[in-house]
Amino acid sequence: MEKIIISPSILSADFANLSAEINAVKSAGAKWIHVDVMDGHFVPNITIGVPVVKSLRKATDLVLDTHLMIENPLKYIEPFAKAGSDILTFHFEACENEKEIEEVIKVIKSYGIKAGISIKPKTEPEVLFPFLDKIDLVLIMTVEPGFGGQEFMHECALKIPKIKEKSGEELIIQVDGGINNLTSKICTSLGAASLVAGSYIFGHEDYKKAIDSLY
Ligand code: DX5
Ligand code: ZN
Repeated sequence: MEKIIISPSILSADFANLSAEINAVKSAGAKWIHVDVMDGHFVPNITIGVPVVKSLRKATDLVLDTHLMIENPLKYIEPFAKAGSDILTFHFEACENEKEIEEVIKVIKSYGIKAGISIKPKTEPEVLFPFLDKIDLVLIMTVEPGFGGQEFMHECALKIPKIKEKSGEELIIQVDGGINNLTSKICTSLGAASLVAGSYIFGHEDYKKAIDSLY
C-alpha cells in the first residue's frame, strides 16, 4: 500500500499560499509534489514556470515531480533542472522524432535527476517501447492535458499493463487526471505505482483523509 507514490498536483492548490499547501500535503503523507508547467502552446492553458520551481525548492524537501506540458522541451530542461526539479517529465507529442526524444532524455539524465515521458490520451503506449529502458517514469495522461478537474478516461488506464509488460521493475508508471478514491484503485490494480491527484486532494477539507483514500 505505502509503495504507491501519491503526487499531489499543486495546480489545484491555493497559489497565494503554496508553501502552506505543500506543508499541509506533506503532513498528510505526501512524498512528492506534482508541478504542472503549461506554456499556452502545447496545451491551451498557461500555469507556472522556472521561478516557481526555484521557490518551491527552497520551501520543501519533497520530491519535485515536474510535468512539462510545453513545446520544445529540450530548450527548457536546463533551467527546470537547475531550479531544483527531481523528476522532469516531458511529452512524447512535443518532440519531432526519436532522435530528439533521446536527446531530451540524455540532457535530463546529465543533471543526475529522473527522466519521464508522458503520453496524451490519443497516443498509443507502443510509441514508448523504444525508450523504456532509458527512462525512470512513464506518465499516462488519463485526461486531455491542460486543466484540472476533468473526468477520468477509463480507456487510458488500459495502457498501464501494456507498458508494464514491456518494462523493468524499476520503471515507475504514473497516471494523471481524474484520480479520486475510485479511479485510483483501477490504476493501481492495473500496475500504476504513482498517482497524481489535484482537485481530489486540494478540494477535500481533510488532505490526509483524501490521500489515505487513494491507497
Ligand atoms: C492536467 C494536469 C494534472 C492536473 C490533474 O493537465 O497534468 O496534473 O492537475 O488534475 P485533477 O487531479 O484535478 O484531474
Ligand atoms: Zn500533471
